Amino acid sequence: MPSSSRDERQQPMRKQLLTAGVAAVLAISMSACSSNSPSTTTAAPAPPASTTQAAPPATTTQAPPPATTSTAAPVAGYPLQVKDTNGDGIITVGFAQVGAESGWRTANTQSYKDYFVPANGFKLVFADANNDADKQKQDVRDLIAQGVEVIDIAPVIDSGWEPVLQEALDAGIPVIISDRMVSAPDTMYLTYFGGNMKAEGDRAVEWLKKYIADNKITDPINVVHLQGTLGSTAQKGRSQALTDAAPGLKWNIVYEQTGEFTQAKGQEVMESFLQQKKDFNVVYAENDDMAYGAIDAMKAAGIDPTKKIIISFDGNKSAVQMVIDGKIKAIAECNPLLGPQVGDIIKKSMAGEKLDKVMYSVEGVIDSTNAAEKIKTAFGN
Ligand code: AHR
Repeated sequence: MPSSSRDERQQPMRKQLLTAGVAAVLAISMSACSSNSPSTTTAAPAPPASTTQAAPPATTTQAPPPATTSTAAPVAGYPLQVKDTNGDGIITVGFAQVGAESGWRTANTQSYKDYFVPANGFKLVFADANNDADKQKQDVRDLIAQGVEVIDIAPVIDSGWEPVLQEALDAGIPVIISDRMVSAPDTMYLTYFGGNMKAEGDRAVEWLKKYIADNKITDPINVVHLQGTLGSTAQKGRSQALTDAAPGLKWNIVYEQTGEFTQAKGQEVMESFLQQKKDFNVVYAENDDMAYGAIDAMKAAGIDPTKKIIISFDGNKSAVQMVIDGKIKAIAECNPLLGPQVGDIIKKSMAGEKLDKVMYSVEGVIDSTNAAEKIKTAFGN
């Protein structure tokens, strides 16, 4: 966690940046920009994936990009670009991370720690919010006070960010939003990079529709919905995909509760549901960890998980193994290995390249048709 003490030696530099930043705000129109990163998709909504759609391996987006150097003008549409403000040849990246709630999160953190090292031209200042939305905003304020050269925020929840983003703008520190989105004007940050959470949910729903049709299931579809951290865009997008589709498809959501993206809470809420002795045939768990917890609860209650349709999100190696074993039927992928790609974005900003306001990871669906292949490149344990 970053220290909150302010380094007085940073002040003259930060004042210059502030002046430059304000001038740039006045001079530049704030339209979204366009350019392509070779390993990402851009803002167009992703089409629903079919069961057999083979997603590229999680490592597709991993190749570190070549370093670029330039003294180009600020990136149009955002008043700031990343700069080596202290001229030491190293870019200090402040990373305001969500916490350590899941296997996905552990892999995400490790990806940053592995990539943002001096050998790659970076230093990482890591702040763990422990899933506390208020603490995370203070973490970002601490990073600003430390005078880091760029801040990456993986937001716990999407709301309440405007004052903090304004403080970063005022301090002349560019902000990248990663993993989850913020609810703030896109003129307040450089770019978003991560998963398209609604599209992930749409893929899961499309997969379930096709599975029901292919297997000629005529029983009522009764869905247990285990939600992620309420107010995170990972939860909102994945939940919306299901709750929008369910009425038209005559699927019943028989239980809906947050498991906060953790295995322990996923197990706890599934246990509560099972005590109600209601019928269900589908579990829509908004991440792998909650699916693990739900499976443990089902086993303890004498229910064979292979006889249910369990769908999860992410694609941890153990979850992919569960697809092979038939315990999880499908996983909507979410790639956590974002460090090198964020590094690419920083280098492009330094080079003055135009950046899209939204860049999505390439993701698909893992099921029995591709799990044996997917497990070879799956992240985590
Ligand atoms: O924001 C990404 C989500 O956060 C992952 O799906 C989940 O596992 C994590 O905790």
